[in-house]
Amino acid sequence: MSKLALVTGGGTGIGRSTAGMLAEEGYHVVIVGRRPDVLADAVKWIGPQASAVTADASDPAQIPTVLEAIGDRPLDVLVNNAGAFIPGTDSTLDNVAEHWRANFDSNVLTAVLTTTALIPFMRRPGGRIILTSSIAAQRGGGGPYSAAKSALHGYAMDLAVELGEAGITANVISPGYVADSEFFLGRNTPEGHQKRVDATLVKRPGESREIAEAVRWLIGPGGGFVTGQIINVNGGTVLGR
Ligand SMILES: NC(=O)c1ccc[n+]([C@@H]2O[C@H](COP(=O)([O-])OP(=O)(O)OC[C@H]3O[C@@H](n4cnc5c(N)ncnc54)[C@H](OP(=O)(O)O)[C@@H]3O)[C@@H](O)[C@H]2O)c1
Repeated sequence: MSKLALVTGGGTGIGRSTAGMLAEEGYHVVIVGRRPDVLADAVKWIGPQASAVTADASDPAQIPTVLEAIGDRPLDVLVNNAGAFIPGTDSTLDNVAEHWRANFDSNVLTAVLTTTALIPFMRRPGGRIILTSSIAAQRGGGGPYSAAKSALHGYAMDLAVELGEAGITANVISPGYVADSEFFLGRNTPEGHQKRVDATLVKRPGESREIAEAVRWLIGPGGGFVTGQIINVNGGTVLGR
């Protein structure tokens, strides 16, 4: 029986690349997202080892659908990758509340609800939990998005403490600028692109598959002694934290 992995936000960008890497590594991969057509395309791209669940991972009522896809098989790898920068106006306190709640729902609740529901099914020992944060958590600049991603860091540390004795690791991957995804769709400009590239030390954008490679390391034999860590994959834009 093949090993089992689940990737939220696996229909596009970093999540899709990660799901493709997991299929290469011999996992059956369940991808989760809100758009069935996008998920169907990703399943075709990943191959026969993939299946999809349409669900909004920030909605507690939709998490049971995700659980059904896992059944009672042990889950080897959980990648909490769903998230988005959600713009908003802050002109009234109601706007502020809406803006912050939307970013926390998208980036924190998706991970917390999915992880909470799936912890009982994680393989013991050997399970791996990964959370996708952002360079914005470490240098700000994204308002509630930065704050929401920072929340994942504290959450991952608690998961690592709670699950360490069971032989399950929990780590954060914090990407810098990755251009080949939908993340900047409709809000990137040539100047914005250049500014982000210039801010790296390697003078290029990252690629989704480079984030997937960091996941490959964490889920592989080399990752077994790594837990409660923030792994930066950012071309040197933020150094050493
Ligand atoms: N690209 C970058 O430069 C960058 C940098 C740092 C961190 N990140 C983080 O990396 C992760 C992946 O982003 P990406 O760059 O690959 O962008 P992306 O292509 O927009 O991927 C985000 C994925 O998450 C899914 N998603 C969003 N909200 C969801 C929800 N509530 N429930 C289920 N699925 C949801 C989206 O699909 P649906 O809309 O169909 O649900 C989409 O497939 C995100 O957490 C992002 O914050 C990206």
